[in-house]
Amino acid sequence: MQWRRRHCCTHTAKLLYLLSLLGLLVFLVHQVWFPKLTGMPWWRGYPVVYGGGLLHGSKWNTSTPRTVWRYVIASQPTSTVDANTSSPERRGASPHQGKMNFENSLAANTSQSQVGDVNGTMTHGPFPYIINEPDRCAENQPAPFLVLLIATEARQVEARNAIRQTWGNESIASDLGFIRLFLLGRKEGELGLLQQKMLQAESRRHHDIIQQDFLDSYKNLTIKTLMGMNWVAMHCPQAGYIMKTDSDMFVNTEYLIYKLLRPELKPRKKYFTGNNMRGFAPNRNKNSKWYMPPELYPGEKYPTFCSGTGYVFSGDLARKIYHTSLTIRHLHLEDVYVGICLANIGVEPTPPPNGFLFNHWRVSYSSCKYSHLITSHGFHPNELLKYWHHLQSNKRNACINTFKEKAGRAHSSWLNEEKQPVQ
Ligand SMILES: *[C@@H]1O[C@H](CO)[C@@H](O)[C@H](O)[C@H]1NC(C)=O
Ligand SMILES: *[C@@H]1O[C@H](CO)[C@@H](O)[C@H](O)[C@H]1NC(C)=O
Ligand SMILES: *[C@@H]1O[C@H](CO)[C@@H](O)[C@H](O)[C@H]1NC(C)=O
Ligand SMILES: *[C@@H]1O[C@H](CO)[C@@H](O)[C@H](O)[C@H]1NC(C)=O
Ligand SMILES: *[C@@H]1O[C@H](CO)[C@@H](O)[C@H](O)[C@H]1NC(C)=O
Ligand SMILES: *[C@@H]1O[C@H](CO)[C@@H](O)[C@H](O)[C@H]1NC(C)=O
Repeated sequence: MQWRRRHCCTHTAKLLYLLSLLGLLVFLVHQVWFPKLTGMPWWRGYPVVYGGGLLHGSKWNTSTPRTVWRYVIASQPTSTVDANTSSPERRGASPHQGKMNFENSLAANTSQSQVGDVNGTMTHGPFPYIINEPDRCAENQPAPFLVLLIATEARQVEARNAIRQTWGNESIASDLGFIRLFLLGRKEGELGLLQQKMLQAESRRHHDIIQQDFLDSYKNLTIKTLMGMNWVAMHCPQAGYIMKTDSDMFVNTEYLIYKLLRPELKPRKKYFTGNNMRGFAPNRNKNSKWYMPPELYPGEKYPTFCSGTGYVFSGDLARKIYHTSLTIRHLHLEDVYVGICLANIGVEPTPPPNGFLFNHWRVSYSSCKYSHLITSHGFHPNELLKYWHHLQSNKRNACINTFKEKAGRAHSSWLNEEKQPVQ
């Protein structure tokens, strides 16, 4: 009897203990994997542990709990899944408490002579334009509110056409002034010559292509972006805002214009926003796509930069960034490089009003989610057309429909919910 009772008691205690552990686990799962539920797969992110009060600065106390997540879970660039770099050191996640000393570490070699900005007069920079649209901006009667700069390659004709019909359609905000430009370099070889001919025909038809004479390669993405900055500085300095993005993106330009930038407000100055990457350390793994040789960037930490999949800035910054780039050695990581230029001119990227606007991963589609975000990454041109049209035809009740669908689905088979085709 005695034995049984004691046994029973320890049994109950064990059970209670297990239950409380389970409760704690459920709580933690809900807390930690919250971003997963809102579209961000958790495996794409890894925690960046910040030392010393980064979250406590007076700048950050306006953050809602949601936005705080962005600073805790910083996501990785998504374009390739590279087994070698899946460890938490892609761009580097090691916490560093040391001060950013990018300016010293950069050892900006100002002696590298680049034509670009002679005594304050803008020139085309080190590479001449092959295709240019110098009058696109001047033709626009109100100074353009938004200029889209879309990095693309000659062969991506389909992607450009899809963008023209969807988020890059200039009639989305023609009354405000909305310009779309594709950025390209030059391809080599016979194929390159053929592509160039086709590109020139495409340019005559759409007048939305600018191209300079540099080799179009992943490592030259920085040059491509700087060409865009140069174009704005030279031919469209009065533009309100610029967005730099890629051709495999979904961009909700309407939300961007009317909800984030808001034409009714006085245009901001020195404004730069996007998916803020804060506290990232250079990746020192030589096998990584994001490897940064210490000789090029000896610093322990990058200044805050915004993911190159989509960032937005005020028109005044194009010239400032371009100008300062002439004194800073080029790094092949375009978004990091622009971040360094920003730090150099003393501009800190502004965190967007919520952490789910600028996604550099792919957010699973629902009209509700997509009517409330600005970027989502990794789209085939066909998917872009499909989702865009769905979103347009469900604009008025984007979220009501989703709710109904969900409810219907839940009724029919809650177990198979994930397997149902996305509407
Ligand atoms: C943020 O904190 C600073 C000082 O800690 C305070 O002055 C400011 O009012 C706070 N802002 C908000 C929105 O809480
Ligand atoms: C991954 O790393 C191993 C050894 O470090 C190397 O042999 C292999 O080629 C790398 N793979 C890729 C895809 O970089
Ligand atoms: C700057 O670059 C020039 C030529 O590219 C080189 O001769 C010089 O040593 C460099 N200076 C520094 C400080 O790196
Ligand atoms: C700037 O340089 C150009 C020639 O490069 C010269 O014609 C012009 O007068 C200069 N302007 C100023 C303000 O120095
Ligand atoms: C852009 O949108 C307008 C109005 O919705 C439409 O008439 C036009 O065909 C679109 N342009 C393209 C290239 O699809
Ligand atoms: C970048 O473009 C320049 C100019 O065409 C070329 O010399 C260089 O090799 C290119 N760099 C890479 C890494 O492709």
